[in-house]
Amino acid sequence: MRAFLGIGLPAGVREKIAAATAPLRGLHAPVAWTAPKNLHITLDFLGDISLERVAVVERSMRVVASGTGPFSLTADGGGAFPGTRNPRILWVGFLEPLELVRQLQQNMGNALSGAGFPREDRPFHPHITVGRTRGALPPAWGERFVQALYGKGFGVVPVSSFTLYESRLGPGGAAYTPLCDFRLAGFGEREIREEKEP
Ligand code: 2AM
Repeated sequence: MRAFLGIGLPAGVREKIAAATAPLRGLHAPVAWTAPKNLHITLDFLGDISLERVAVVERSMRVVASGTGPFSLTADGGGAFPGTRNPRILWVGFLEPLELVRQLQQNMGNALSGAGFPREDRPFHPHITVGRTRGALPPAWGERFVQALYGKGFGVVPVSSFTLYESRLGPGGAAYTPLCDFRLAGFGEREIREEKEP
């Protein structure tokens, strides 16, 4: 099955993103907009894997989750990959600090490569994909997208778990099915610091 590891978003965050992108969707540019229910943060894309490998992923992700504490992310503003002049992916980003999500993603990558999965060689930019371009966009469209989202806050994403999803691609777009949640049960930085305080 086609699978990936990611973080689901609260309904309020998804609704705020849908509301902020609605005027852009109305412009009918060649963009495949992500359905609000599908908005998520990808941590690791596994690709097509067998059921045996799913079990391996589940085992190693349990270990990662048990050693990682909960944290939160604040969704804010937007951008484009590879850049605003030639957008392929339109995204919503997050405010710093991003150390904890980076650490989680790195721990997952280490565990997965230890289990024989190829390592993602691209740098990790935590984001929520809101659209994918499907043809040539009008000039300055990427800048327009970024401007429309600039300074807009979409709310806090409390991250107390991450999820293994199955992704089914179909004519009506992708359908993501959560297969397994991994609760972050370790001590976060904040808790450790509080314990150390006099
Ligand atoms: P992204 O859109 O957040 O960048 C489910 O398909 C998710 O896996 C997508 O949202 C996408 O993440 C990521 N994904 C899909 N195909 C991928 C690929 N070939 N390489 C890396 N990530 C991919």
